[in-house]
Parts: sequence; C-alpha cells; structure tokens
Amino acid sequence: MSITERSPDSSAAEPGQARSRGRTVQEILAGDPVPPPETLRREHPMHVGSEEIPVERYISKEWLALEAERLWSRVWQMACREEELVEVGDTVLYEVAHLSIIIVRTEDGLRGYHNACLHRGTQLRVHDGYTPEFRCPFHGWTWNLDGGLKEIPCDWDFPQVDAAEFQLPRVQVDTWGGWVFVNPDLDAPSLPEHLGTLPGEFPWDTAARYKSLHVSKVMRCNWKTCMEAFMESYHVVATHPQILLTTGDANTQYDVYEGEAGRPGWNRMLTPSAVASPHLGDGVDETTILQGMMSTYGMDAEGITVPEGSTARATLVSMSRSMDPAATPASIPGELVSDAEAIDSILYFIFPNMQPWAGTSPINYRFRPNGDDPDSCIMDVIFLSDFTGERPRPAEVIHLGPDDDWTMAEGLGALAMVFNQDTNNLPRVQRGLHATRRSGLPLALYQESRLRQFQRDLAAFIGAD
Ligand code: FES
Repeated sequence: MSITERSPDSSAAEPGQARSRGRTVQEILAGDPVPPPETLRREHPMHVGSEEIPVERYISKEWLALEAERLWSRVWQMACREEELVEVGDTVLYEVAHLSIIIVRTEDGLRGYHNACLHRGTQLRVHDGYTPEFRCPFHGWTWNLDGGLKEIPCDWDFPQVDAAEFQLPRVQVDTWGGWVFVNPDLDAPSLPEHLGTLPGEFPWDTAARYKSLHVSKVMRCNWKTCMEAFMESYHVVATHPQILLTTGDANTQYDVYEGEAGRPGWNRMLTPSAVASPHLGDGVDETTILQGMMSTYGMDAEGITVPEGSTARATLVSMSRSMDPAATPASIPGELVSDAEAIDSILYFIFPNMQPWAGTSPINYRFRPNGDDPDSCIMDVIFLSDFTGERPRPAEVIHLGPDDDWTMAEGLGALAMVFNQDTNNLPRVQRGLHATRRSGLPLALYQESRLRQFQRDLAAFIGAD
C-alpha cells in the first residue's frame, strides 16, 4: 500500500474518523445467516489522541523500573487458572518483573503471598505444586497455608519476633472467567471495578473450559513491543500477505471502552474472515476467496464454487456446520454458534497485559517483562478448550527459550507458523527502537487506537505526562 491510496475523504474527516475502503465489519455481520451475540453488533470507536508514544518506554531500564514500582505492584493481573488450584495446598508461582507471588488453595479459599521468607528473604517456593506448608529451605522457618507463622527453629534466639507481625504478607486474589487474578496493592480497587464493563460485553463462558495448552516463550524484545504486535491488524498486509485473500485487515473494527473513575479501560478488535482484504480492491470473486479459505483449513477446494447470490463467508460456514468435528478442525460446533464466533478473529484486551480471544477460538495471550531487562519479555500462549465429562487436568507449561521456534511446542499446530511470522519481526523492532533518531512513535489514529489507549492508561499508572 502506498500513501497515494489514502481515501479522498480521509483528509476531510475529523481526526480518528477516517476509515479504510471496503465493507465495514457491521455490514459483513449483518449478512450472516446466524447472527453474532449482541455485543459484537456494537461499535465503539474512540479517538485517543494523536500524540507520539515515547520510544523511551520500550528501551529504558529506568522506565521498566517505574513499571515494576508503579504498575506491577499496583495492578490486577492474570496469574493462572483456578483449575490449577483444586486441592487445599495446591500452589502456583506467579512472577513478573521483580515480583514473586505464591497463590495457594486454603481451607478458606484462594490466598496469595509474597514469595519471600521473613527471616533473610529466601524464596519459599520455586515451582508450582502441592505443599502442606511453606517451609524455608535455608533455616527452616515455616508458615501455615493461611500465612500464620508456625515454627522458628531455635525460637529462643528470636525473642524480638512477634508471630502476629510475622504472618506472610498477602496480595489480593480474585477470579473471573476461571482465571485467577492477583494485585499486590491491598488498597487497590476490586477486580470487578478493574474489569469495569468488560464482563458484560464478554458473553463467553471461559470458566467452563479447561487449560489444554500453555506455551511460555522468552522473546528478545520489550513486553510492550511484543504485546502491541497482537493489538492491530494493520501489520497483516506486510507480515502475513498470504492471508490477504481471506482477511478483512484494513477494515477491522476497533472498539475502545473507557474505565470508570480514572481506572484503565479495555478494548477489542474484530477482524472478519472469508472476506478479501480492502488492499486487494473490489474485484476479488467469492469463489476465489472460498477456495483460499478452504486451503487455509487444509480442505480440498477442487471444483467448489460459491452459489449465485451467496458469499464465500456464508458458503464456508454452511459447509463447516455439516462437517464431522472428529474429521476436521474446520467444523463448526453446533447451529447456535454464530458465523462470526466460528471464523472471525475477535480479540479483547484487559489492562495491562492479557488478551483473551472470543468466540470458539481457544487462544489467550499474556505478556510480562523478563526480570529487569527492557529488551526481553515472556509471552504466554494459553489454550482453553471445551470438554465433556470430568474436567481434564490442566496442561503443564511448555517453556521455550529466545532461540526456540514456536513449532517446537506440540499442540500449536498451524498457529505455530503464524506466531513465527508475528514474532520474527520483534527482535528487529526492538533493535530499531534503540537505533531510531526519533523520540516518538506516530501510531495510526484508528487502527492503532487500542495501543494508544493502553499507552495512555499505562502512563496514568506511572504518573508520566
Ligand atoms: Fe528463611 Fe532463614 S532465610 S529461614
């Protein structure tokens, strides 16, 4: 695409109001035989300003230290799944920046503690799993699961230690959608206040699914560099040109919702499938799109055509509904699942670092800084899947290093290649951020409005201008 393709109308539009040529998502959804949930029929664009995003936020150790102090220590963040903490004594270790937190199932529900011995600081836990108590491996100080001090070896030598003052310091713990969230700030607003209106606009029961895959990969870039790569479809034309035939990239819908009382907001994007990219113009015939989509799914497209008056989208969904789920991943489970939920990319963002996909997609993302290195982060890909009968055990974490390929994680399937395309760029982006002579990034007003809202809310936490 060149800038000469800019719509003649765009220069006349108010900032943030200009849109790509092509059908809107709402026009596409209006033609679907099985309409989507009401929330997807809403549009909520927001102009979040036109200021440049300071490059310093992506490369500076000082900024990363501010995030540790003012963001991660004060914000609700997804730590794990509730199904990982079934029995009393089950623990999960959650680490971000300098923070290390133990989440444990107790007789009184879920609790979270800072993972540090109150004698000389040793971490009480270094892995997930069951424990009947928290016993420090250095000198043996021990706490009960409820955080109360149980034992100090040679306690005659510690007359100054009052057990009431040496309970394990707690963090806030709460759940939504089967996810466990923690917040180290005991005075912070509640999780429902943090989530705001999002639960009412996310009508998918993720608590009823189980964790079927978890891949945790170290990336050679800042956590925001990585996360923001998954918050827009603007990159599709250059990074994934092979899907332009079947993806509404430039006409993706971006919705931005403000938080209440100065709290962070949330946002989402709806990228339609089985429609041609506006970059390809108006002349792409529906059968070509359909055959492209079928080959993406590994289906035999020989001789398949779109009936007169129908669309690739409607034909594909109709064919998929009648397929045997055991025979192909392209099948659509049940008549009640709408076309959009079945095939579109619907991706939500929960501040500061969680991205659950919606509809039938199993995908969820989480992004964290890797210690105190601004040029490294950890990206988690977590699949949630439906099940019948007894809830399966949650998947163990597959750890990938910075030089490991996503294809090394069994279970990602064809998505591994997409992740490789998405993430191969990122070390190069990070190095470029160090090299650039510009001090700010000129993000798009609409297609990158989700990034703008995140950066604005982040700056508010940090107390930056
Ligand atoms: Fe934990 Fe001494 S550091 S008991």
